[in-house]
Amino acid sequence: MPASRSAGPGPDIVTRLRAAGCVFAEDEAQLLIGAARTPAELDAMVERRAAGLPLEHVVGWAEFCGLRIAVDPRVFVPRRRTEFLVGHAIALAREAFAACAEGTGAACLAADSGGALAPHRAVVVDLCCGSGAAGAAVAAALGERIELHAADIDPAAVRCARRNLAASAQVHEGDLYDPLPTALRDRIDVLIANVPYVPTGEVGLLPPEARSYEAMVALDGGTDGLDVMRRVTAAAPLWLAPGGHLLVETSEQQARQAAGILARGGLIPRVASSSEMNATVVIGTRPARQSEPGG
Ligand SMILES: C[S@@+](CC[C@H](N)C(=O)[O-])C[C@H]1O[C@@H](n2cnc3c(N)ncnc32)[C@H](O)[C@@H]1O
Repeated sequence: MPASRSAGPGPDIVTRLRAAGCVFAEDEAQLLIGAARTPAELDAMVERRAAGLPLEHVVGWAEFCGLRIAVDPRVFVPRRRTEFLVGHAIALAREAFAACAEGTGAACLAADSGGALAPHRAVVVDLCCGSGAAGAAVAAALGERIELHAADIDPAAVRCARRNLAASAQVHEGDLYDPLPTALRDRIDVLIANVPYVPTGEVGLLPPEARSYEAMVALDGGTDGLDVMRRVTAAAPLWLAPGGHLLVETSEQQARQAAGILARGGLIPRVASSSEMNATVVIGTRPARQSEPGG
């Protein structure tokens, strides 16, 4: 049972949170009260939050696309801005499913020619999945219309993603594409890759909640922040279906350079951004196969 539900948060809790620098102390106090099962647990939670632990790590979950996503200690807390990328991924996966259902999708053709995977489903991969939040949101929107895989190099993230994606995805552990089934080559319709993209020199400028409590492998994207993205892009044409899409999140400043990397990798890039959500997504599309002469 929650520590106390009826009245508003105790002034003591709000004061402690406010003194620790929590801007939304009232709201956070309500959340902590709802999450704690006993007064002692509540006290411990307030203590951890006041010490700087991200609220999501204290309560054990984050809200993302209207879902409650489990987030274990050290695992990257899904950011609300990533909902923008997810919106694009859902739209593209829906299109891929429609094409597949009509029998024109590449994934269908592969399945028909003896592939092991189920036909008539769009193939979606959440690479560098962290908690699996993006994949979970796409699965919640499209259900049986997609075949979903997720992968991450961090065992803690993989454990977390397996909980969040238990019913909807196969979750693999390893470096980028290494752990994916080879049957997915040439077959991915939508490749979500919210990779780390903070330049190494700027990691120290992140809020303490991120730089002290999230794994460095989730944040540091190398000198210009685009190292992991470069590696993802280099192999993307091997894994994407013709006409399939790679979606990466970047900062506004990185978008042009990222689009250039995708173009040099053989993908057709476009940039989508939302000032309201402070979000930028670069989408690279593998050119569709040319139809055979006379075919
Ligand atoms: C910015 S976090 C994003 C997590 C998740 N996609 C999200 O949006 O909440 C980046 C993730 O990439 C993973 N990662 C970093 N390098 C990786 C690699 N070489 N192979 C697989 N995963 C990697 C990290 O462990 C981390 O979970």
